[in-house]
Amino acid sequence: MSVNLDTPAVEAIVTSDVTVPAPLPVLGTDVAVPLADGTEIPYAALDYAASAPALRRVWDDVAAYAPYYGSVHRGAGHLSRLSTDLFEESRRTVAGFLGCREDDQVVFTRSTTDSLNLLATALPAGCEVFVFETEHHAALLPWGRTADVTVLDAPRTPVAAVAALEAALAARDETRHALVCVTGASNVTGELWPVPELAAAAHRHGARIVLDAAQLVPHLPVDVAALDVDWVAFSGHKLYAPFGAGVLAGRADWLRAAEPYLAGGGATRRVARDGDGGVTVDWNTDDSRHEAGSPNVIGAYAIASACRALTDAGFEHLAGREQVLLGRLTAALGELPRVRVLSLFGEGAHRVGVLSFVVDGYDSADFAAALSDRYGIGVRDGLFCAHPLVRLLTGADGGDGCGEGPLNAVRVSFGAGTPQEHVERFVRAVRELAA
Ligand SMILES: Cc1ncc(COP(=O)(O)O)c(C=O)c1O
Repeated sequence: MSVNLDTPAVEAIVTSDVTVPAPLPVLGTDVAVPLADGTEIPYAALDYAASAPALRRVWDDVAAYAPYYGSVHRGAGHLSRLSTDLFEESRRTVAGFLGCREDDQVVFTRSTTDSLNLLATALPAGCEVFVFETEHHAALLPWGRTADVTVLDAPRTPVAAVAALEAALAARDETRHALVCVTGASNVTGELWPVPELAAAAHRHGARIVLDAAQLVPHLPVDVAALDVDWVAFSGHKLYAPFGAGVLAGRADWLRAAEPYLAGGGATRRVARDGDGGVTVDWNTDDSRHEAGSPNVIGAYAIASACRALTDAGFEHLAGREQVLLGRLTAALGELPRVRVLSLFGEGAHRVGVLSFVVDGYDSADFAAALSDRYGIGVRDGLFCAHPLVRLLTGADGGDGCGEGPLNAVRVSFGAGTPQEHVERFVRAVRELAA
């Protein structure tokens, strides 16, 4: 499916009257947390954009596998062979979930940050990178170490984003390699970026594109081949699989040609002493080239389990359910004059279940603390590791660390495991606090 919400397929999710299914079971919904008045209340986790709770099914799958745990790619014992099979099967599951092309590689990493840093080390010599200033720092910062970076100003519409990229790419020297890095859904506003159009623009000008799907993969089906992106990166802990793994999936050629991300066992075919007293190394050219060291089989298996759980539940229906909750939330916030929802693309922009706002007369940190202390609601406040974007949208000009500026925002985020009651409690809380 395309992630451009102007397309009929996604528009159908947003506007259709699909039956709203129950949330997927996740851990933690029955955990009681203390309130300031001394009572307790079940925790409402509304910070999915930072780390989503584990799906019950992921937890159960990991627990069922745990007794069979063994080393991957480095043991002759039965459980080592079983674990190796499970690891490689997880790779295939993730490739299928992402709609990867036949010859794409799926590399297991630690996180989105790790995936994008890996790709940054794999850029061909003389590569130029184009990135919007609105990106999460994980997508904004890695490139400067290995490439010439052009940072594009924040566009105020999806159409302007494509036009700005077109203009920048048209002015480039096409004899050089180029990469565009773009988010699928903003971790600040939740707004969707026009990924297929940006990918087409990149390819028209001989550039490649990597999709930061950290906030997209948990909310909407992503199809690498249909979107025509060259790579996609995401984190397991935002996809209900918090076991320390992430993914970089996509074109094999640059990955194969690059020096291994880490030097060590597992990434090598043959290591031998050379005639000069050193060692020569013959590195693997498959997915394991960038996975030196003992692989995180539980992390990879957990991600594969989450992919299966979302697919089995009907991802489109989950996305539709999320849009219903989002619609109720935005309608309620829209009625509160002191609440300003942050938006880059303005009225009518489509977003996933991620939304940031400021409350007139309130410090966002105090507001978030009140949500926790009085209502048992966990949100995030700060600059969300996207400082230029939050400063632009709030008008803040101070603060260099997450959470330091005077005009920080509050972010509420949710997904497939969010009970309706959590969103209703949040709306009631904001109404009361902002009254
Ligand atoms: C859009 C986006 N990209 C990248 C990242 C980095 O993810 P991680 O911290 O899992 O590496 C995040 C994390 O919040 C994000 O929201």
